[in-house]
Amino acid sequence: MNLTPGYRSLLDSQARARKLRLFRAGIGYPALIIGIVGSYRKHGTVDTAVSEILEAAAHQGAEVRKIYLQDQHIEFCTNCRHCLQVPGRGPCVHDDDMAQILDAIEAADALVLGAPVNFGNVNALTRRFLERTVCYGYWPWEAKAPLPPTSKPPKKAVLVTSSAAPGFLARWLTGALSALKDLARMLGAKPIGSLWLGMIDPRHSQLSAAQRRRAQYLGHQLAIAS
Ligand SMILES: Cc1cc2nc3c(=O)[nH]c(=O)nc-3n(C[C@H](O)[C@H](O)[C@H](O)COP(=O)(O)O)c2cc1C
Repeated sequence: MNLTPGYRSLLDSQARARKLRLFRAGIGYPALIIGIVGSYRKHGTVDTAVSEILEAAAHQGAEVRKIYLQDQHIEFCTNCRHCLQVPGRGPCVHDDDMAQILDAIEAADALVLGAPVNFGNVNALTRRFLERTVCYGYWPWEAKAPLPPTSKPPKKAVLVTSSAAPGFLARWLTGALSALKDLARMLGAKPIGSLWLGMIDPRHSQLSAAQRRRAQYLGHQLAIAS
């Protein structure tokens, strides 16, 4: 797995220890916000919006990182339910990049989750990632249904999606927002807002002035809420 130096530092336990020291000293620490880009296109619409949100959060003093799912080795869930036999994050039968991605996410204070709409829902790459977050569930063999989590989601999240259809229509007619909400829930995050980028022409990935303003507002809100 190719980790950027910044991403690797996330996984460094010293970073967590530093936060704790600063917190105990009453100095506080910058919120760490991770953007997850499920789009296939770097610098595409979703990526551009996630960047805008992260930049606004950084402007408020947050530390920000971005993970492109397309750069990670993520296997499909096998539906074996092995990981569901223990409460909390269960062990997965796969040996891929997923554990390191989840370590990074667990170390973060807030998330930006972005994915485009393909065939009426989030794209396959994001769906594959979502399915693997099942490791946070708890469904022992003797239980008829999954047992609900007992703790409240500790993080905040902003959800971003884009579609060729107008935003108001796609929001209503597609399952993308619901899937991103599921993803936030599985990752222990509560959405505080969403950005839907409708009428997307993939030849032009720039955001409109209104979309930029909304992205900046959400980044600002995420930083101050974290
Ligand atoms: C295979 C495929 C399926 C798509 N399905 C839909 C769809 O069901 N509804 C829609 O509004 N847009 C659909 N689109 C358009 C994409 O949502 C749009 O190009 C995407 O949001 C651009 O995001 P990006 O710039 O991050 O790549 C589809 C595009 C592709 C390539």
